[in-house]
Amino acid sequence: MMTKKIILTGDRPTGKLHIGHYIGSLKTRVAMQNSGEYDPYIMIADMQALTDNARDPEKIRNSLLQVALDYLAVGIDPEKSTILVQSQIPALNELTMHYLNLVSVSRLNRNPTVKNEIQQKGFGQSIPAGFLIYPVSQAADITAFKASVVPVGDDQEPMLEQTREVVRTFNNVYGQDVLVEPEGVFPPKGQGRLPGMDGNAKMSKSLGNAIYLADSEDEITKKVMSMYTDPTHIHVSDPGHIEGNVVFTYLDVFAEDKAKVAELKAQYQAGGLGDVKIKRYLNDVLQAALKPIRERREQYAQDPAAVYEILRQGSAKANVVANQTLTEVRAAIGINYFG
Ligand code: TRP
Repeated sequence: MMTKKIILTGDRPTGKLHIGHYIGSLKTRVAMQNSGEYDPYIMIADMQALTDNARDPEKIRNSLLQVALDYLAVGIDPEKSTILVQSQIPALNELTMHYLNLVSVSRLNRNPTVKNEIQQKGFGQSIPAGFLIYPVSQAADITAFKASVVPVGDDQEPMLEQTREVVRTFNNVYGQDVLVEPEGVFPPKGQGRLPGMDGNAKMSKSLGNAIYLADSEDEITKKVMSMYTDPTHIHVSDPGHIEGNVVFTYLDVFAEDKAKVAELKAQYQAGGLGDVKIKRYLNDVLQAALKPIRERREQYAQDPAAVYEILRQGSAKANVVANQTLTEVRAAIGINYFG
């Protein structure tokens, strides 16, 4: 039997997941899970979320359940994927400490994604130390499970790079092939990021431009009808633009009838097709795509105890694997004094 490749990936629980997460990563994870070629570990990274939310733990606590519901709703299957909670895996913290000794402060300061986030979050001179080192903790997440495959968004490439550095340094310094170098799996070019409903390149909770997997039918309709289209398309008879027109971007991603989308685009560009019509069509398409997800989510939401039980069992299984890696790491360093 071919051994399955180990996948590790995850999300920070800072809110519900939206259709940008779905297109950018959740859909790929479900497909990989169902291919039978992988052994996936999916981590709810609450420790990482706390690195910039330490004073609002309630938000992280509440979001944990929301993210778990989103996972189950899109088809992450606990029989096939191990869903785990980062804070419940103590070995990750010790691995992080060992790795931190192999990483310089100046290297931490150079991580481009972290640099961006520091700007965006406006930390100024008060960067939480835990935030600055989270890429090293992420290296612990990945290596604890000996994952070789890490499906993530493009912004996570620097984390993979830093993880590979940690792995190489560790294996060099301690002279053993204990840790595994991971490869990132990134979304196909141009498909990684769904824009917000307002036309902003990024869909995010803080920008208030997201459609959530948990949104009701009415909420979706309201959002679609208020979507950004083409500001120069004033009268129905005016020729309209497709470029940067969010309704068409979403149709390209979600509509199965590509011929119909092509026809609508041609009509819109020629003039004579109104925004309301294309929005109604997008609404039908989105409602059809999101209904089964929302219904599954509602079912799981009726029994939070059962969802926590899935997380507890996943974390228990993950602990066995992470503890084994930690034992090997301790032995490689030579701090296994008592056998
Ligand atoms: N940094 C990731 C994010 O912000 C979440 C994450 C934590 C992660 N640990 C990970 C992703 C390990 C992949 C592998 O979305």
